[in-house]
Amino acid sequence: MIKILAFETSCDDTSVAVIDDNYKVYANLISSQAKHEEFGGVVPELASRLHIKNIMQLTNAALNKANTSLAEIDAVAVSINPGLIGSLLVGVSFAKSIAYSIGKPLIAVNHMIGHIYANKIDNPHLKPPYLALVVSGGHTELVHFKSDTEFEIIGKTRDDAAGEAFDKVAKLLNLGYPGGPLIDKRAKLGDPDFHIFPRALNRKDNYEFSFSGFKTSVRNYLENKDEEFIEKHLSDITASVQKAIVDVLVKKTVNYAKREKIDTIIVAGGVSANSLLREQITLNAKKIGAKAYFPAMQYCMDNAAMIGAAAIEKYEKKQFADLTLNAFSTKGLRFI
Ligand code: KG4
Ligand code: ZN
Repeated sequence: MIKILAFETSCDDTSVAVIDDNYKVYANLISSQAKHEEFGGVVPELASRLHIKNIMQLTNAALNKANTSLAEIDAVAVSINPGLIGSLLVGVSFAKSIAYSIGKPLIAVNHMIGHIYANKIDNPHLKPPYLALVVSGGHTELVHFKSDTEFEIIGKTRDDAAGEAFDKVAKLLNLGYPGGPLIDKRAKLGDPDFHIFPRALNRKDNYEFSFSGFKTSVRNYLENKDEEFIEKHLSDITASVQKAIVDVLVKKTVNYAKREKIDTIIVAGGVSANSLLREQITLNAKKIGAKAYFPAMQYCMDNAAMIGAAAIEKYEKKQFADLTLNAFSTKGLRFI
């Protein structure tokens, strides 16, 4: 059995985890930076400073929780892209120094691949081929994994990501940040058919996404309403917004799976925590004879356990990084 110490610092959450090669998670600690809330979004410079402040203490706490000493760690994993460059650099520098000091291999992980591998924690048997819907604050991608080493991007967003759409609409509604979980919660009390917001690029054979026009249409809709109306129908509006976003994600994913006869669908990234998305993908996948998988709730949002999970196969294949490893912020999913 091998144990991996994993780090995730790509955005505003500092996370440290200990995981073994059977995908058993011993600790997965996340220190969320509440400080950004007052700015209504993540302030990059502040995020990297808070990572520096938190990471040492969090590492000690994770090792304690895992009842594991540094001497028992076999490899160190870290997300190196995409993300905020200053934030990524804190994790990468710290991971490099730990790997060097204990004389164990260093493994570089792409954050988006990490989100996908979060699914393996509770379903270690999952193997390509599968269709992955990757939906986070910065990404919306439909990806066909043909094997462990080969994938094809079927479609991605032309502008805003799905999580970003949730966040921006929540801001318009003064709900707070991050908006996705707040809209999800509020929408449970409302009527999803209260207002039909537009679904962009709705043609059957189109697998691209666009959420920028959708956000504008919500803004235009709200501009014509008085405060009293918005307050009275807040739950109905959030439910209608959520349905519009989820409809598009589900339809494109299931249509492609059906067309290509793919029987395994994986949802990954922060938006995979959305209750309607989980319900609707499961239901519609079933209709075409496919099965949908999601990470457990604690592995949907950014966390280090998913980075450790993605590092396991790399450890087995001896795909190690050296101490010249650097972080880079470029968007997208890639094997590194
Ligand atoms: O993957 P993630 O934690 O960070 C990025 O890599 O971006 O995703 C964060 C995004 C945010 O936009 C947040 O609003 C969204 O995931 N999110 C949700 C839910 N929980 C988180 N969106 C919809 N419904 C949720 N329950
Ligand atoms: Zn993420």
